[in-house]
Amino acid sequence: MAVAAEPAKVHLATGELLQGIPGKGSVTVAELKKWLADPANHQVLLPILPLGLDAGQQSLVGLDKNPLTRAKVELGRQLYFDTRLSSDNTVSCASCHHPDEGYARQTRFGVGVNGQEGGRNSPTSYNRILSGAQFWDGRAASLEEQAIGPIANPIEMANTHDACITTLKKIPGYVVQFDAIFGKNGLTIENVGKAIASFERCLVTGPSPYDYALRLEPFAKLSEDDLLDLKEDAPETYALYESLKKALEETPFTESAARGKELFFSERVNCAACHVGPNLSDEKYHNLGVGFPADKPDLGRYEVTKNEKDKGAFKTPTIRNVALTSPYMHDGSQQTLMEVVEHYAKGGNPNPWLSDKIRKIDLTAQEKQDLVAYMEACTGTFAPVERGRLPE
Ligand code: HEC
Ligand code: HEC
Repeated sequence: MAVAAEPAKVHLATGELLQGIPGKGSVTVAELKKWLADPANHQVLLPILPLGLDAGQQSLVGLDKNPLTRAKVELGRQLYFDTRLSSDNTVSCASCHHPDEGYARQTRFGVGVNGQEGGRNSPTSYNRILSGAQFWDGRAASLEEQAIGPIANPIEMANTHDACITTLKKIPGYVVQFDAIFGKNGLTIENVGKAIASFERCLVTGPSPYDYALRLEPFAKLSEDDLLDLKEDAPETYALYESLKKALEETPFTESAARGKELFFSERVNCAACHVGPNLSDEKYHNLGVGFPADKPDLGRYEVTKNEKDKGAFKTPTIRNVALTSPYMHDGSQQTLMEVVEHYAKGGNPNPWLSDKIRKIDLTAQEKQDLVAYMEACTGTFAPVERGRLPE
């Protein structure tokens, strides 16, 4: 199929890639064939990140190896919501990473087929476009590799890759899509991973009060006269200024949140030693003593690297939209953001491998409140997503 050489820009904030193929009910093979016949759906896309997250626009992960197209994202969307990927047809990715629960799940542990529980909390499946290694311990090198893990995990979707492919091959709507997107006999487990990863890369957090306030900061220095000049000389920049002010009237960045932000990025409190960058995560592994003391602690990153220093270390989660995804930490042991702040204030739980960046911090009750208010102000909207419209 002939496609243009330059990737076409698409703004993820609009959510247009998540809307599914237009129509109602199950998606038919005829509808799919028509959709797949349109070259525009195979055009390689350059996703443009929403305000705030766009600080990471130059560091998108994984698109070189797995170029994004509308057809691939849509196929990934269907697979993400399809319980037929699990052994007994009851569990989908969304069972543990649900759009109504911040693409995580408000249970302590992920609950899989037959109500089985693992020992780790479901992390979020958004903003993965800025993230390399996946899982709390980084054992999957890519999102593609991660996506096929749960299918064969006995306590999650409890299937085998072979059985999953056999099931999908019986659904003609999937066969036509895989073949059109990946070539003849395209329905393989690797390509299931590629399609789901493409969908996940389009799940991103929209701008939060924190982002609006940050973007407004440079304008604060301008006098009334400067602003009038700006209106004349740079109407687009002035329009941005106006839109930021309006957004903050609707979702204010409170004084408490502003103080919390100062603390978060201060040398004294230094949450930003690890929660840093556009997604407020360094993508590295640290031991905060969560789950300690224990007879048999979850050793996290150590299980992957066998490096002594990695014992009890887990990947730094994002602070974006964190208010939506209680409970917290790799073991879901902390219920509220205040509980998390208390954990840091006391210097974590002592253990031989505790990060040297974790130490007791003297925080007043107000300062603790302020940190919570800041994290709450990092909440942006998610674009709506079609959860139905699966192949018959
Ligand atoms: C039974 C619940 C459950 C199901 C079903 C499930 N997950 Fe997960 N998911 C988890 C848990 C728990 C973890 C963390 C496990 C770990 O780190 O060892 C996780 C980790 C992840 C991560 C890593 C995020 C990060 O920050 O590193 C992604 C992405 C993800 N899942 C996507 C998916 C996709 C895609 C599917 C469907 C193919 C899926 N999950 C199915 C519970 C589930
Ligand atoms: C040394 C690096 C480091 C520093 C400093 C740090 N964090 Fe974390 N943060 C992490 C890691 C790693 C985890 C996950 C730990 C685990 O589950 O065992 C985490 C987890 C969290 C969580 C839970 C998120 C979730 O989705 O479960 C929140 C909230 C949080 N941190 C906020 C803060 C705040 C507020 C500060 C400053 C007071 C801070 N962090 C300082 C590395 C750090």
